[in-house]
Amino acid sequence: MKKYCLLLLISISIFYKGFAEEGMWLPQLLQSLNEKEMKRMGMKINAADIYNISKGSLKDAIVSFGGFCTAEVISDKGLLLSNHHCGFDAIQNHSSIQNNYIRDGFWAYNHEQELKNPSLFATFIIRIDDITAAIFNGITNILTEKERQSAIDKNIAALKTSVKKESYQDLLIRPFFDGNKYFLFVTETYRDIRLVGAPPSSIGNFGKDTDNWMWPRHTGDFSMFRIYADKNNKPAAYSADNVPYKPKRALHISLDGVKEGDFTMVFGFPGRTNEYLHSSAIEQTVNVSDPAKIAIRTKALQVIDGFMRKDEVIKIQYAAKYASISNAWKKWQGEILGLTKTNAVAKRKEQEDSFEKIVLSKPELNMAYMDLLKNLKQAYTDIEPYAYARDYYNEIIPKVELWGISADMNSLLTAYSKDEETYIKRKAEVLNKLEDSFKEYNVAVDQKLFESLMDLYCKDQQADYISPAFKAILIEKGNSFTALSESVYSQTAFNSFDKIKKMLNGSMAEAVAAIKADVAGQLYTDIFKTYVTNVSPTLNSLQIDINRLQRTYMQAQMDAFTQKTFYPDANSTLRVTYGNVKNYQPRDGVKYEFQSYMDGVMEKYLPGDYEFDLPKKMIDLYNKKDFGRWGVNGRQPVCFIAANHTTGGNSGSPALDAYGNLVGLNFDRVWEGTMSDINYDASICRNIMVDIRYVMFIVDKFAEAKNLIAEIKFVSKK
Ligand code: ARG
Ligand code: GLU
Repeated sequence: MKKYCLLLLISISIFYKGFAEEGMWLPQLLQSLNEKEMKRMGMKINAADIYNISKGSLKDAIVSFGGFCTAEVISDKGLLLSNHHCGFDAIQNHSSIQNNYIRDGFWAYNHEQELKNPSLFATFIIRIDDITAAIFNGITNILTEKERQSAIDKNIAALKTSVKKESYQDLLIRPFFDGNKYFLFVTETYRDIRLVGAPPSSIGNFGKDTDNWMWPRHTGDFSMFRIYADKNNKPAAYSADNVPYKPKRALHISLDGVKEGDFTMVFGFPGRTNEYLHSSAIEQTVNVSDPAKIAIRTKALQVIDGFMRKDEVIKIQYAAKYASISNAWKKWQGEILGLTKTNAVAKRKEQEDSFEKIVLSKPELNMAYMDLLKNLKQAYTDIEPYAYARDYYNEIIPKVELWGISADMNSLLTAYSKDEETYIKRKAEVLNKLEDSFKEYNVAVDQKLFESLMDLYCKDQQADYISPAFKAILIEKGNSFTALSESVYSQTAFNSFDKIKKMLNGSMAEAVAAIKADVAGQLYTDIFKTYVTNVSPTLNSLQIDINRLQRTYMQAQMDAFTQKTFYPDANSTLRVTYGNVKNYQPRDGVKYEFQSYMDGVMEKYLPGDYEFDLPKKMIDLYNKKDFGRWGVNGRQPVCFIAANHTTGGNSGSPALDAYGNLVGLNFDRVWEGTMSDINYDASICRNIMVDIRYVMFIVDKFAEAKNLIAEIKFVSKK
């Protein structure tokens, strides 16, 4: 009886983990794995309406946007919808003092006004095939990891030549389940993507860093683009002759909004998750790696913020850097909080105990996985100091821009050692790149970052991970980082674009001699050398070990927990995640509603503020309650939350209702739930979406872009 209860308990807890909201599912497997459950949760369409290779389905409206976000087609003229922060680079590139699209927004009222973006692209997924058998052809257990990988690479190369595809299509092959499965993607990439519309940042990034990762939220985080194709509707490089793309499928926009409990699914390209780690890896994240990275970023943000508050120019120059440092910094804090609050480590240990019991009870599993957990634990213990050194290096060195510039300048020495032609080519590249970087560079800020972060580099690290040359010069300066930074920044030429241009203007021999003699270049060389000599080799070989053990553990979990349906970790491939619209309780005594309204925008409004200002027209529209068909009962919905399992890369993903119609645009997660990348917990994990009615309100009432409203198809079930 006791044994029976235990088994029941195990299967309930395992079943629970894999149930409902959790999971980033493969679209081609929805029919076999998820359709029943999706319908039980409220879905009214079939899996074949979501993914179908013989006729247009929802997947044909979804694109990977520039490789870092998701976007969706919302008209039969190739109109694309994504986030403001996904389109930000494009918006910034078209902005100038005269046409400040970041500040004022941008709207094309006809096709001629749409703006081209040379580096943007949109990739459709045509077909997904399981190619595991072909990839593992000839792979045996006796191969070393290196031999195994090179055999796999050979199989991939062979497959790429044999798979049938059209000339304008591409093939992408990716490992899943830590390398236990492989899928092939046939894709079509369109490269003529034009900017169509973006609200002012005061709407598209309302609340900026203060509100980032937070609920309640009031951000209109969207922008619009259009895909252009050649006359045959096929991918083509930019050309004035290109025409708006005719999609196989465009999403329809629902006018109905959402209510508590409604079915939603988010369809997009989530970047990276780690849901199947050993408990000791989670412990390391909570106790070592997240705190180290947070501490470094806290210092960096303090320095930059200090300057930004005092100086308008620096405020503009460092806005993007500050936002990006702050984004992960805030996310990691939420991650620690969530992992701690939900007892993630203890729960994972319980799961490991169940795993161990099942393995012990089955001889064939016992044979294969006997010491697996013990070895994993040991491997994570072994890698800890090296992983810490890696985090330190990666977090500190690139934030002192003098080091990055030194790396670029030193690359000229490598080029010089090849031949003159290589040097000349590299010189042009470096000058090009540095011209851009120096636009967002301030010597005083960088020097303070140097003082503050290199202090951490020396204080908090094991002695042999610290550059001897750096230590020596620090001692020379009486262990004062201020004295050291003053000396370095007054001697180096690498902290000024003018000095660099002058240095590279002379003869090649002179330039090379000057680069070699530069103090920053010399110090950086030793910092880099120390890392690649004393950290990288051991780190890499331990990592290969962990990868092998994790791959085995992934398979082992699937072999042991046979009742559970597994989904693969995110890897920037197309996924579907589904759940229900749901409020949540972040802390005792506090309940968060699922929907926010424009009343909340006005509550946060601070005239002239850097984060919470608003365009006058928005305030007028609000005061007149001029919401058009987009408001309900005199209120304008703005954002909502649901229990969909999303991560970075899902930005811009469509949130679809039970009928597959667009109700929202995914752009964030709630702070308490950012640990969903490691341990999804339906009690506090929520994704944040802009209500599509807010997007349409802004396009229609604020921008008065009737041309865009006219090409969209709206639907209502009411
Ligand atoms: N947290 C969101 C994401 O991870 C939004 C980031 C952009 N917004 C910002 N305020 N930094 O991408
Ligand atoms: N803002 C994130 C992105 O750019 C999405 C938020 C998340 O990490 O879930 O993809």
